[in-house]
Amino acid sequence: GIVENVDWLEIKRKADAWIFEAGKLIRNSFNGDRTITYKSHAADLVTEMDKGIERFFIKNIRESYPDHQVLGEEGYGDEISDSKGVLWIIDPIDGTTNFIHQQTNFAVSVGIYHNGTGILGFVYDVARDEMFFAEKSNGIYLNGNKLPSLQETVLEESVFGINATWLTPNRRIDHTKLLPIVKRSRGTRSYGSAALEMAYVASGRIDAYLTMRLSPWDFAAGKILIEEAGGIVTTVEGSEISLLQQNSVFCGKPGLHEQVMNEIILGKK
Ligand code: IPD
Ligand code: CA
Ligand code: CA
Ligand code: CA
Repeated sequence: GIVENVDWLEIKRKADAWIFEAGKLIRNSFNGDRTITYKSHAADLVTEMDKGIERFFIKNIRESYPDHQVLGEEGYGDEISDSKGVLWIIDPIDGTTNFIHQQTNFAVSVGIYHNGTGILGFVYDVARDEMFFAEKSNGIYLNGNKLPSLQETVLEESVFGINATWLTPNRRIDHTKLLPIVKRSRGTRSYGSAALEMAYVASGRIDAYLTMRLSPWDFAAGKILIEEAGGIVTTVEGSEISLLQQNSVFCGKPGLHEQVMNEIILGKK
């Protein structure tokens, strides 16, 4: 239905509490047995924790906010056909491969939108206990401390987030186009959690992140963080990202985003 008089302060407090609670549940699972199953193939993993955490969020949201929509990776939420009203987009564990192999470098990602506009973004690095949070028009915070806005930079002075997959032949982009990123930047990084990589762009730990395919739950929170920090988030074609489908994602500091768009992706000189 139509959502009016949304109490954002209450939503923020509840989401924050639920995310820390989810973090505790995940940390407590570190020592126990884990059931790992393949989804589509041997590299597409899911655990009981991914599913349990998503169900935990959905139960809480349904109880407090029966008129909100919820989209989650593991499919316990709603079938979403529009972004009307309040929409929660949740990745219970982003970086499941890291969660399984490393027990670090994964995050809980929650983005909350109102009629398609990002309002609250949370990326919680459970193992490091780092909460990246942004609220539209109210700044970006790391563990409650306000972070500075992103300043312009250039490729030659940048650390660039990109997965090696996109630097090998693939069906989404001519990989040879991207090779100058490796040569011209100060270095490339790949952390294996899109949500964390976007949180790192938002907080200035890396300067840009480029990937050819993400789902809404991978980027929903990170997009809010980066935009609030003054960074740019588009598809690799430079167009606006759609919340309701898979997209390529290219995000980064101002200046750098434009330079890479023009000189690398569009190939202008
Ligand atoms: C994955 C991670 C990874 C990205 C994949 C995602 P998951 O999410 O974000 O970094 O490269 O495209 O599917 O499955 O671990 O939540
Ligand atoms: Ca997954
Ligand atoms: Ca994910
Ligand atoms: Ca996931």
